[in-house]
Parts: sequence; C-alpha cells; structure tokens
Amino acid sequence: MTATDVAATAAGPAGDGSWAVETRGLVKRFGSNIAVNGVDLRIPRGCAFGYLGPNGAGKTTLIRVLLGLTGADAGTMSLLGHPVPARRDRALARVGAIVDEPRFHAHLTGRQNLQVLAAAREPAARDRIDASLKRVGILHRAEDRVSKYSMGMRQRLGVAACLIGDPELLILDEPMNGLDPAGMQEMRDMIRSLVDEGRTVVLSSHLLDEVQRTCDAVAIVDRGKVIRQGPIAELLAGTSVVVQVECSEPDRARALLEVSSLSASVGLEPGGLAITLPAGTTRDVIAEVARVLVGGSIAIYRLHPVQASLETWFLQVTSRLGDPE
Ligand SMILES: Nc1ncnc2c1ncn2[C@@H]1O[C@H](COP(=O)(O)OP(=O)(O)OP(=O)(O)O)[C@@H](O)[C@H]1O
Ligand SMILES: [Mg+2]
Repeated sequence: MTATDVAATAAGPAGDGSWAVETRGLVKRFGSNIAVNGVDLRIPRGCAFGYLGPNGAGKTTLIRVLLGLTGADAGTMSLLGHPVPARRDRALARVGAIVDEPRFHAHLTGRQNLQVLAAAREPAARDRIDASLKRVGILHRAEDRVSKYSMGMRQRLGVAACLIGDPELLILDEPMNGLDPAGMQEMRDMIRSLVDEGRTVVLSSHLLDEVQRTCDAVAIVDRGKVIRQGPIAELLAGTSVVVQVECSEPDRARALLEVSSLSASVGLEPGGLAITLPAGTTRDVIAEVARVLVGGSIAIYRLHPVQASLETWFLQVTSRLGDPE
C-alpha cells in the first residue's frame, strides 16, 4: 500500500465498516501517572502503522490495553471491528502480538515452542508451523534449542509464533530492539512482505528513522498523548525546509539573510549555512535566498534544499510541547 492509498483509506473505514484498530478516549492510569491519555486511534487495514514515541511515552501500555492484558480506565476500543473487551476472544483469534520481547522456553527447540503455542489455538495452527518457520527464515534452525538463538532469531521466532494463527493484524512492540543493522533490514523487509499479503502490522518504536522507513502511517505519542497521526507523507508536508548553502563569507551571508525580509532561521555550518524556512515554503522563497546572497556579493558554491525528516519534525514537536505556552 502506498502512502496515497493510506491517505485514501484513512479518510474512512474498510469495506466492512471497521478499522484494523480503533480507539476512542482510551485512558490507562498508574496512580497519578497517566500512561495512556485520551488516545484516539484509527488504523486503516492493510498498512504498516508506527506508534512512535520516546521511552516511557506509553507505547507498551497502549499495546497491553489493546490486547486486554490490562484494563482501560476509560474509553472504548475495537480490533478488526470487534469491540474489546466485550468480544476479546473473537478479536484476538485473528491477532498475533509480541509485547515487550518475545518470551520462549529456552530449553525447548524453536519448533517445540511453536508446538506448545499451536496447542492453545485452532487445529490448523499446527499445520502452519513449518510454513511459518520458513517464512521468517529459521526453518534450518528449528531443531535447535532457543537458548542457542541470537536476539535476531528470537525476534523471528516471535513473528513465526504470530503467523501460526494466520493473523489479519500483527501488533509488534519494538520489533527492531536488539537487532543489528542487517537484522533491522530483514525485519523491515519481513514487515513489508506481511503488509503485501494484505495483513495490517502495528509496531511501536522509539526509532523514528526505522518507522519512517518501514511504515505507511504513524501516530506520534508523547507522555501518553497522541500529538499527530496520519500518513507519513502527509505529516512530512507540514515540516519545515532546510536549505544547505556552501558559500564564501558565511558570517556576512548570515547577517545579510537576517536583515532581509525572509522569515528564516540561519545557522552557521562548516563552509556555509543551514537555513530553516517554515512549512509551506515555495521554490520562490528559495530563489529569494539566492538573490539576497548574490546581491550581497556572496559566492554560492552549492545550494541544496532538504525536507526535514520525520525525526527532525518529531523533535520540533516534542520540544515545543515542553515549552511554556
Ligand atoms: N505496571 C506498571 N506500573 C506502574 N507504572 C507503569 C507500569 N507500566 C508502565 N508504567 C509507567 O507508564 C508509563 C509508560 O510506560 P510504557 O512502558 O508504556 O512506555 P513505553 O513507551 O513502552 O516506553 P519504552 O520505550 O521504554 O518501552 C511510564 O511512566 C511507566 O513508568
Ligand atoms: Mg515499551
């Protein structure tokens, strides 16, 4: 699914009238600490959705509430159109989840662990064990004890454990945790291929770059509150533009821009400037930057506009939240 498809889907629920995940006003408190604070989520089906926030933002708690592992203090929610907790069993029959990190019996083999899990599910789950192990690329290690598995292999076994239920929805808490760059790439590819099969993958992460690379849509959460959500392309459209300039006399160039009519924030960089322009900046504004500099007899060696990454945007948003109003 492309970002545009997500945008289209995000405008309304799926064909049968339901979202993969929908929450309204969800609240979970630990004493005076509000870990989930009025969360309204609408996650379209058939996409990879990132629940993105810093440590302690309430990501794991939200997932635990969604899965009914802990009760909500207020609000309503549904998974795959089934209200939870009223029809929790019905909902969870088509949901696979890894919370915190996958836990297995270390003294049993990968296959034996899946057999234990399959025994608690429908009979067809047992028949899916081989295909699931193959799917995540650890069939050749299926007869090894899990105690001998690397972190990456345990994560894969965790996904295999989800797949034996043939889930429509996978909920993965920090699936990139503990993985090296190659492992992350493999996990990302695996998530994308699950989405290509029409499944919905919801993952939590504090790795902004990973979410940007893996997901179609995102909710950004800070201190229990969702502060923005939507297709990544749409969120990026609201970000500032940074123009990197290599030029002569960077100090004087900065002074020229600061007294100009441009609403730019100008930083000095080695050999030039980084000019931050507000969201919605057009090409004409970038041309005006060049005019101001050339008009002041500054030699421009290179001028490169870059859209701020979601990470930059995220940092802007969270730091703004910390400011007194
Ligand atoms: N069982 C619990 N009892 C009391 N407080 C809790 C409990 N679980 C979580 N919290 C608190 O709720 C808040 C959210 O925690 P949570 O684990 O959901 O964050 P997170 O976003 O998953 O963080 P991380 O990125 O570190 O995994 C934190 O302030 C945490 O201390
Ligand atoms: Mg967590």
